[in-house]
Amino acid sequence: MPITLAVPRELAANERRVALVPEIVGRLIKSGVEVRIQTNAGVEAFYPDSQYLAAGGRIVGTPRELFDGAQVVLKVQTPTAEEIAQLAPGTIVIGIMNAGRNLPIVAKMRDGKITSFALELIPRISRAQSMDVLSSQATAAGYVATLMGADHSPKFLPMLTTAAGTIRPSSVLILGAGVAGLMAIATAKRLGAEVKAYDVRRAAGDQVRSLGAKFLELEINAEGAGGYARELTPEEKAKEQEMVSAAVAQADVVITTANIPGRKAPRLVTKETVGRMRPGAVLVDLAAESGGNCELTRPGETVVQDGVTILGPLNLPSAIPFHTSQMYAKNLQSFLGLLLAGPGALTTDFSDEILAASLLTSQGEVRHGPTRELLGSSA
Ligand SMILES: NC(=O)c1ccc[n+]([C@@H]2O[C@H](COP(=O)([O-])OP(=O)(O)OC[C@H]3O[C@@H](n4cnc5c(N)ncnc54)[C@H](O)[C@@H]3O)[C@@H](O)[C@H]2O)c1
Repeated sequence: MPITLAVPRELAANERRVALVPEIVGRLIKSGVEVRIQTNAGVEAFYPDSQYLAAGGRIVGTPRELFDGAQVVLKVQTPTAEEIAQLAPGTIVIGIMNAGRNLPIVAKMRDGKITSFALELIPRISRAQSMDVLSSQATAAGYVATLMGADHSPKFLPMLTTAAGTIRPSSVLILGAGVAGLMAIATAKRLGAEVKAYDVRRAAGDQVRSLGAKFLELEINAEGAGGYARELTPEEKAKEQEMVSAAVAQADVVITTANIPGRKAPRLVTKETVGRMRPGAVLVDLAAESGGNCELTRPGETVVQDGVTILGPLNLPSAIPFHTSQMYAKNLQSFLGLLLAGPGALTTDFSDEILAASLLTSQGEVRHGPTRELLGSSA
C-alpha cells in the first residue's frame, strides 16, 4: 500500500497559504505516494482543485475522508483541536507549529499520540537549506514589508527628475538584517530608495553592503549561538538606543525585523524615538508577532501617532500566497525526503539531525526540550 499524504484546507484566520501546490503534488505522486487534498484547499492561493486533479491528486470533501487512513498530514499552521481529534494515533503531522505560543495544541498532539514535526525547529545547517521554511517565508515577509511601507508613505521612494521639479529619494532604514531584513533592503533598493541598515551581528555588515546599502556600525558584535543574535547587555542597549534613535528620526520608512529566537523581540524604537520622527514617516514592525520592536506597535493594527504611521502586520507571507505556498511546498518536499523510506514505507528512525531537532511530539511525549519545560511550568 502506498503512503497517503493529506493536505487540509488551512483554518486559521487570514491564512491563505496551502501546504502543497499542484506541481509538488505531481512530483510526490511520481515518487510513489498518494496525495489527498481537501476541496478548495488551494483556492485562496490561486491553485484550483482542477490543477491538483490534473497533477494526479485526489480531491476529497470532508475532513473524515481526508484523514481516514492517511499516514502524513501536511499543514502550514498548527492543526486545530478538531483536526487532532480526527487523527489516528501515530499519524505524522508536519507544519509551522510555533510551539511556545501554542502549548494547548502541543498538549493535544502529545495526548493524541500524534508524531508532530515543527518545521521552524529545523537547524540552519547547509543540508537543511532546501527545507528552511523560516527563510522562505521571511523572504516574502521582507519583500511585502517594503511594499507596505512604500504604500503608506506620502512620498516617492526613487529620485525623480521631472519637468515639475526634482524629487529627492526617500530614506529607508532597516533594523535587523537577517533573512527578512536583507530582502526588505533589496526591495527598497530596487524601488530606488536610499537605504541604511543596522544589525547587532557584525557579519550582517558585508551582506548589507553587498546589496548597495549603508551599514550602521556600532562597536558591538552580538553574534550568539548558531549565527543568531544574543541579547545585549544594558550598556550595549543604551548605545544602541542612541544610534538607532538618531537614524530613525531621519528616515521616511523604517522596517524593523529584529528577533532573538525564543525571546521577546528587542525593543529598538521607543515612544520618544517615534516622537522624533517626521510627520508622514512610516514604521513597519515585522516583529509585531513576537512583542514588537517598536513600543507603540499593536499586533495586527495600524497606529497613527503625531502623523507617524506604525504598522504591526501579522502573517505577511500569507499576503503573497501563490509564491509563499510554492516555496513552502518545495521545503516540505525536501523534508519528506528524509521521512519517506520508499513508496510504501516511512522511516521510524528519527535519529537524523534534522528530524531529531524538529520532532515535537511522538508516542505520547513532548520531544522538544524547551517546549516540554514550558508545558511543565504551565501545568
Ligand atoms: N545556514 C543557513 O542555512 C541559514 C539560513 C537562513 C539564515 N541563516 C542565518 O541565521 C541567522 C538568523 O537569521 P534570521 O533572519 O532567521 O534571524 P531572526 O529572525 O532571528 O532575527 C532577525 C535579525 O535581527 C537581528 N537582531 C537581533 N537583535 C537585534 C538588535 N538588538 N538590533 C538589531 N538587530 C538585531 C538578528 O541578528 C537577525 O539578523 C542569520 O545569521 C542568517 O544568516 C542561516
